[in-house]
Amino acid sequence: MKKYFNVLVTRRLHKSALDNLEKKCNVFLHTGKIPIPKKSLINKIKNMDGLICHPYDLVDKEVLENAKNLKVISTFSVGFDHIDIDFAKLQKIKIGYTPEVLTNATAELTIGLILDTLRRISEGDRIIRNKKWNQIFGAYDYTGTEVSGKTIGIIGMGRIGREVAKKANGLGMNVIYHNRKPISKKIEKMLRVKYVSENMLYKNSDIISLHVPYNKDTHHLMNSKIFKKMKKTSFLINTSRGKIVNEKQLVTALMKKEIQGAGMDVYESEPIQKNNPLLKLENVVLAPHVGSSTNETREKMSDITVENLILALEGKKLLYSV
Ligand code: DGY
Repeated sequence: MKKYFNVLVTRRLHKSALDNLEKKCNVFLHTGKIPIPKKSLINKIKNMDGLICHPYDLVDKEVLENAKNLKVISTFSVGFDHIDIDFAKLQKIKIGYTPEVLTNATAELTIGLILDTLRRISEGDRIIRNKKWNQIFGAYDYTGTEVSGKTIGIIGMGRIGREVAKKANGLGMNVIYHNRKPISKKIEKMLRVKYVSENMLYKNSDIISLHVPYNKDTHHLMNSKIFKKMKKTSFLINTSRGKIVNEKQLVTALMKKEIQGAGMDVYESEPIQKNNPLLKLENVVLAPHVGSSTNETREKMSDITVENLILALEGKKLLYSV
């Protein structure tokens, strides 16, 4: 491929991936404010053949209407709800993404949030740092919930849901799940998981973990009606997308003790707003959207993002295309 295609990269990638990209394309790396302001994106995308973007870069119809030369969008993520896929496809723009390589990292963080939320690890850390250890010395002053033997209800049995199921089995949990379609009996047996209706999952789970993509069907899937169906002793874990949960109604459910706690990596608005009531709740563990954020995974994501982009510009089949 001649060094001829112009590519906008909205955020720094792993060095070796960026070097590889620079060998083959004219790279325009955005180094200013992150995420790239929309005005800037619209201005810069005008003469670009390729775009490497992140989940915080909103690539909507307005952006795409200004991208007359664009041939490919390669996103550094498994989620692609930040891209207007239908409009991009109308414009014959190819779209690459990075599934598989982040499955383990995201499942690990999910398990981390489960353990932290149920065993109150971060809360204990705050107690120690605030010099309040002597206030929780009694044998029953500071008890958590044991994870082993509990039932986890997984909503969405794709790659990440399955990896969470495996790891949950390893911790001695019972796994039930709901998915648009049940997975094959063979895989169910292998993963030791049982398909149940949505209602059964809400009623019987001690922990509910979300692993569905965000779209109009999953918008506010978890809302006050659902929280009322859940066990009062149950916990909600979300490492998928913030808008799948109605956050305001979650806060109400947590305050009214309709459910016991929550572990979250994603929010309706990111970074979280300073006055978000979740910040005041002790029974919530908050992570800053870091499901895929390990050195190992981010390096692989960088490589795949670049590879997808180059393959598309060369007119070849992408490694992973939406
Ligand atoms: C993704 O890949 O979609 C994750 O949310 C990481 O940003």
